[in-house]
Amino acid sequence: MRKIIFFLLTAFILFNIYSCGKVEGDFIKVGAYMPLTGDFSTFGESTVRGINIAINEINRSGGLLGKKIKLIIEDTMCKPDGAAQAVQKLISQDKVLVVLGEIASSNSLAAAPICQRSRVPMISPSSTNPKVTEVGDYIFRVCFIDTFQGEVMAKFAAGILKAKTAVLLIDNSSDYSKGLSDFFKKNFLKLGGKVIAAEFYMQGDKDFTGQLTKIKALKPDVIFIPGYYNEAGLIAQQARQLGITQPLLGGDGWDSPKLIEIGGTAIENSYFSNHYNVEGGTPEVKKYVDAYKSKYNITPDSLSALGYDAAMIMADAIKRAGKLDSKLIRDALAATKNFPGLTGNITIDKQRNAKKSAVVLMVKNGKLKYSQTINP
Ligand code: PHE
Repeated sequence: MRKIIFFLLTAFILFNIYSCGKVEGDFIKVGAYMPLTGDFSTFGESTVRGINIAINEINRSGGLLGKKIKLIIEDTMCKPDGAAQAVQKLISQDKVLVVLGEIASSNSLAAAPICQRSRVPMISPSSTNPKVTEVGDYIFRVCFIDTFQGEVMAKFAAGILKAKTAVLLIDNSSDYSKGLSDFFKKNFLKLGGKVIAAEFYMQGDKDFTGQLTKIKALKPDVIFIPGYYNEAGLIAQQARQLGITQPLLGGDGWDSPKLIEIGGTAIENSYFSNHYNVEGGTPEVKKYVDAYKSKYNITPDSLSALGYDAAMIMADAIKRAGKLDSKLIRDALAATKNFPGLTGNITIDKQRNAKKSAVVLMVKNGKLKYSQTINP
């Protein structure tokens, strides 16, 4: 009798764990934590669109291991503590199997330790600061990192623009901006250039005339502004108003339709490094761009393509794991090789990063124009 009761009790507990856990009915729960409101909300909006397109494709073709994916999205409000709270909720309340996010490196850095502690694999589509995946062996990304991105823009400044001197204008509230400045500087020095000054601002600042007035007096060949699109757009406006005519350079944080909206003609002829070239026509990219355009009436940016790739890499790993088990999915993610993504072929290296080429884009006539590809 006792054995029967024990058996029934165990079965009941197991059933409960199973039904309120990572699988709900016929669904696999996947969490996404994204900046949907706040300073860089176009990042979250584009990424979620990309993830949704991928998940719809997966579900339409039968789902994964016989189950459909259910995406649960949480807003981080573009803040590190918002990111941590969002991930805590996704893991402890929703019991998601995998977490996708964030975009800004500072936000990923705030949430990654929670995923690591809970042994829930996290895949960042686009956080490029090297420290993100150093948090632990459950943290992955599908993009290149800033050691490479800094090298790309240093090579571009020294090699293509023939710049000998540069000034840095750094977002001091962002791990991404600080890191990318360092890597740019290291590489620019190696190539014989000189960084003659660094100026700083904080996210949300609106007036940059103090910093720009100092920069103007130094007459650098180029100004490197590795921040996000809101501030970059305003900085361009104010720089041109002050009569600064030198080229402005940035990184992937500039990638938003809002950059050109805010920067207007002041941002023309500026350059930034990015993950993907919409004009670069593999048939898959073309198919994606057409589908996206017909749905949203706008050209997809890198973020949406990286969101798509992150979701597809996750699906591929779950399939190869063959079981809805975090450890097996982690191992399968780590073994990802030559996965054909929209943003390039993705191989996850020992540090759980992706080695991929970067593109340099130029703002020309209110549009982004492809300038060149730089390989790792
Ligand atoms: N790389 C940026 C970061 O780490 C985020 C970003 C990626 C922004 C791609 C725009 C496009 O903070």
